[in-house]
Amino acid sequence: MDRLHINGGVSLEGEIRIAGAKNSALPILAAGLLTAEPLQVCNMPHLVDITTMLELLGCMGVQRVVDERMNVQIDSSTIRNLKAPYELVRTMRASILVLGPLLARHGRAEVALPGGCAIGSRPVNQHVAALRSMGASIEVENGYIRAEVEGRLKAAHVFMDVVTVTGTENVMMAASLADGQTIIENAAREPEIVDLADCLNRMGADIKGQGSNTMVINGVEELHGCSFAVMPDRIETGTYLIAAAATRGHVKVKDTCPQTLEAVLRKLEQAGASLRVGEDSIELDMRGRRPRSVSLRTSPYPAFPTDMQAQFTALNAVAAGTGSITETVFENRFMHVHEMNRMGANIRVEGNTVIVEGVESLKGAPVMATDLRASASLIIAGLVSQGETTVDRIYHIDRGYECIEEKLQSLGARISRVPVRSG
Ligand code: EPU
Repeated sequence: MDRLHINGGVSLEGEIRIAGAKNSALPILAAGLLTAEPLQVCNMPHLVDITTMLELLGCMGVQRVVDERMNVQIDSSTIRNLKAPYELVRTMRASILVLGPLLARHGRAEVALPGGCAIGSRPVNQHVAALRSMGASIEVENGYIRAEVEGRLKAAHVFMDVVTVTGTENVMMAASLADGQTIIENAAREPEIVDLADCLNRMGADIKGQGSNTMVINGVEELHGCSFAVMPDRIETGTYLIAAAATRGHVKVKDTCPQTLEAVLRKLEQAGASLRVGEDSIELDMRGRRPRSVSLRTSPYPAFPTDMQAQFTALNAVAAGTGSITETVFENRFMHVHEMNRMGANIRVEGNTVIVEGVESLKGAPVMATDLRASASLIIAGLVSQGETTVDRIYHIDRGYECIEEKLQSLGARISRVPVRSG
């Protein structure tokens, strides 16, 4: 298990390239199960979650070939096992994304029921209810979701009680091969949903309305292979921009998609950042000034993303003034706050809101990461601290940020990865 050592106090300066989006690549890899032809996925990020998804597909008998440019080819004509085992699902909840495709193409699936995690209870009842309404019989037994359908799934009018990203994705994939027209109401509108829909349409699906809250999917007889490049990662983009703003720096992120970051860019401007937005780049300049506190509330897209809440908490921790941050998507996403307070931050939790009174600077300390985005926020806190911070349990960060210490080093940060010997 590795840890990160950070010597804070450096303003980030320079340019970096943004990787492909984890939360788009994962459902697109699962979509490879919907066809017997090869699916080539390009711009794949180099992340542990991607390796886990490839391992999951591999244990089902799917062939995977990764080339030297990290393009992945999935060939599920060789599939022999329709099960997602608990050992993999417990390390990555997104494994639930194989449920819809397996049912739609093979009429059967067995997927370990994901448990709660560090950010909340995260049930999958919406996925199950929607697939049942499409004719699947689904039982939960011995910790597994066992689903089957006789013949093909049937189209349905699906109304999601809560906006769910992977829930919408599972239904989109299942409906692409169902009999008839499925309508998904209260669908998630995240850019990753649009990316998945674009990939499925290129595979021969008939999906309309992606990016709005009503999607219409006309089931087709079969899907075919294609080559598809995953969209840039908006959360990675936002994380580096927030790190630049918190350290009073000047950073340009390239190969990104600025349109997917409206809510975040607005908050960065409120924090005092000057932004120059290009077609596929964003340049942020703080001109050496201390950021101002911002207040925000997380909500499904296009509102402010929950995946960027912790990073803004780190920015507010050293900003001028007091800001409040309200989390409405997950019930327990404030674990980073207690670690930041150990670094000298002044943050109090009131229900689902944190009130952050900005301090001049934080002091380095040993801290522990609890989930992916919390880890990113602790790294930002380390970058703005005086002295040394060590961030433990960074396996969380490797799930979602490609080469984070190398990218930060290239921006001038004093950060290094240190292996920790066990025992
Ligand atoms: N929910 C239910 N029932 C369901 C599904 C969801 O009650 O059947 C609730 C959840 O408990 C939560 C809310 O609905 O309170 C939204 O959860 P959602 O299903 O949208 O989350 P997810 O699909 O499991 C994806 C991302 C998360 C991101 C959320 C919200 C992937 C692989 N994961 O999760 O990303 O935070 O959407 O935008 O796409 C991350 O990358 O760090 C991460 C956690």
